[in-house]
Amino acid sequence: MVDPVVDPVARPEAGEVLGGGLANLGQVVRRGDVVERPAPPHAAALHEYLRALRDAGFDGAPEPKELRGGREVLSFVPGGVAVPPYPEWSKTEQSLTSVGRLLRRMHDAAAGVPIPEAQWPSEFVDPGAENGDHQVILCHNDACLENVVFRDGEAAALIDFDFAAPGRPLWDLAFCAWYWVPMVPGAIRQVEGMDGLDPFPRLRLLVDAYGLGDADRRTLLELFAQVTETCRRFVNGRVASGDPVFTEVDARRDPQRWDNIQKWLAEHNEDFLAALGV
Ligand SMILES: Nc1ncnc2c1ncn2[C@@H]1O[C@H](COP(=O)(O)OP(=O)(O)O)[C@@H](O)[C@H]1O
Ligand SMILES: [Mg+2]
Repeated sequence: MVDPVVDPVARPEAGEVLGGGLANLGQVVRRGDVVERPAPPHAAALHEYLRALRDAGFDGAPEPKELRGGREVLSFVPGGVAVPPYPEWSKTEQSLTSVGRLLRRMHDAAAGVPIPEAQWPSEFVDPGAENGDHQVILCHNDACLENVVFRDGEAAALIDFDFAAPGRPLWDLAFCAWYWVPMVPGAIRQVEGMDGLDPFPRLRLLVDAYGLGDADRRTLLELFAQVTETCRRFVNGRVASGDPVFTEVDARRDPQRWDNIQKWLAEHNEDFLAALGV
């Protein structure tokens, strides 16, 4: 007797649930060499973009396979992802610099890829995307530890492009640094599993690995306050809408968290400028 044909997209429960994210907690499923997850509303444009990015020579992102029934199917990227409690390997200088190089490779490829027309998500969008005469690419906007796959000790791919939106490459780098350095005070580094890391040399390492020019280093530092506000607004919005996952995360945090980050960033601006050599 032949087994009935099982539609894997219609039956996501048939796979292994992948942990690591918050936004789609419990809904990201691996089945062999593909991952199935809820598709963002603009997924068709995103898939078109990710395919074009691949054609431009960037292999550090999942390959879109299918879009059906409100879910998307992407290639599973083999390797390891750092999820809390963050393993030691994810906090090494080698990991940090490889993330900088990966982001740069993505940005270099993205520079030649047109951004399809779409209602791109606004949650983490670069507030300066439209002002001035600067290059705009599709920024990832969420290159946190849980969204980078490592292989052989090197960052190999960015995953979870749900919040990708047009913006300056510098904004994407600021977001990435905010998570990976991370650009938060010592007390927060400690409770969030990033203790023992010195943010000053780490920002320099990341920025050097990315290959950021001197002229942009000051502007980068100016962006961290906006990145922090963007994250604050996002979390508060999710809590206000009754999202149980973010409500729980937020309840465990110091209510002064965001203010403390802003204060610390302002207090150490000169130290970071010195660390960046500008
Ligand atoms: N294409 C993929 N290849 C490998 N691992 C993946 C892939 N997509 C997701 N994962 C794993 O599943 C976790 C959650 O998926 P993600 O798409 O980031 O969900 P969320 O939107 O909730 O953050 C990731 O942190 C990663 O560990
Ligand atoms: Mg994620």
